[in-house]
Amino acid sequence: MNKSLENSLFIRAALSQPTERPPVWMMRQAGRFMPEYWEIKNKYSFLEMCKTPEIAADVTMLPVNLLGIDAAILFSDILVTPEAMGGDLSFEQGVGPRFSNPVRSRADAEQLGTDVLDKLQYVADAIKEIQSRLNGSIPLIGFAGAPFTILSYLIEGGSSKDFKKTKMLLHNDPELAHYILKKITKVTIAYMNMQIEAGVNALQLFDSWAQALSWDDYKEFSHAYNTEIIANLNREGVPVISFAKGSSVFYPLMVETKPDVISFDWNANLRAMKDTLPQGIAVQGNLDPYLFYADKAVIKKRIVQLFDSMRGVDGYIFNLGHGIMPDFSFDKVKYAVEVIKEYRY
Ligand code: CP3
Repeated sequence: MNKSLENSLFIRAALSQPTERPPVWMMRQAGRFMPEYWEIKNKYSFLEMCKTPEIAADVTMLPVNLLGIDAAILFSDILVTPEAMGGDLSFEQGVGPRFSNPVRSRADAEQLGTDVLDKLQYVADAIKEIQSRLNGSIPLIGFAGAPFTILSYLIEGGSSKDFKKTKMLLHNDPELAHYILKKITKVTIAYMNMQIEAGVNALQLFDSWAQALSWDDYKEFSHAYNTEIIANLNREGVPVISFAKGSSVFYPLMVETKPDVISFDWNANLRAMKDTLPQGIAVQGNLDPYLFYADKAVIKKRIVQLFDSMRGVDGYIFNLGHGIMPDFSFDKVKYAVEVIKEYRY
């Protein structure tokens, strides 16, 4: 990796080295809360934006230029992998992601492709374009969805509150669930290694819906596959962040996968978590994103409180417990970044 990036706050913190303040980036930092995002979004569909490297790079750069965050994240979506496997994906206003051909049988599952890297070449192209624009200023984070989270979209055909169909599959036909999870895992390993090859400086695995699972089901249907993925990444010099909604429960298992960083949901006492983890695993998180509906003074107080609690820790990256919501005030998010950048341990 470029020397200046090795010394960046983000990479140092991800590798559990000391920093003078926590580095900051936020999940969904490039998105609908920014008027500049809408200027682009009004001209293209979301998938067109993801699939056109120039546009993906434009959007990736928005929070870099407008917020001054310490790491960029590739503009894309976790659902581009199941789309490449054969899912007919669309994003509908007010509905969210939708697969018109959800997987409901073994025959459907057999249709899913696993040799699909060529269909994801646009992501490698976007990474190269973004890196030429970042020009060594800050690191670029790549990402993918964890197999269980991706499975839930393929089975439900979209977002779900109760994951009813997914759970019926896990419980009634675990063999079929494993068959699909193995396919997703194979694609995810190849896809993340492709991102490393294309030049990302870190990777995050998003297991956004892990919290829906019981301990035993998490172990069998999520953890086993996340372990396989992380073990098969060519991760030399590329820190791996493991995120789960539910990490404050599942972290003892997440530790076994040997990530460089565990990203915590907002339920966790972050300092207590950090003190429990083995040496060499950094933490990321975990401000309650809904705090952005409060006044600036409250936002500042809670950030300072969180940072004071992390004093003396080597290996802490600021983030939210989950993503930025579309109706957050840009002004407040920008204010939070300023507060963070002024802070010193
Ligand atoms: O963080 C970033 O800024 C990088 C880009 C990014 C997006 N999605 C952009 C996006 C990343 C890292 C994701 C990951 C993602 N996508 C996750 C995991 C993270 C998490 O939030 O738990 C999940 C579960 C998805 C699936 C997905 N894609 C959802 C639930 C939605 C929102 C649907 C809705 O309408 O609320 C999307 C669409 C999406 N992904 C948007 C963006 C900017 C909005 C698209 C639009 O403009 O309509």
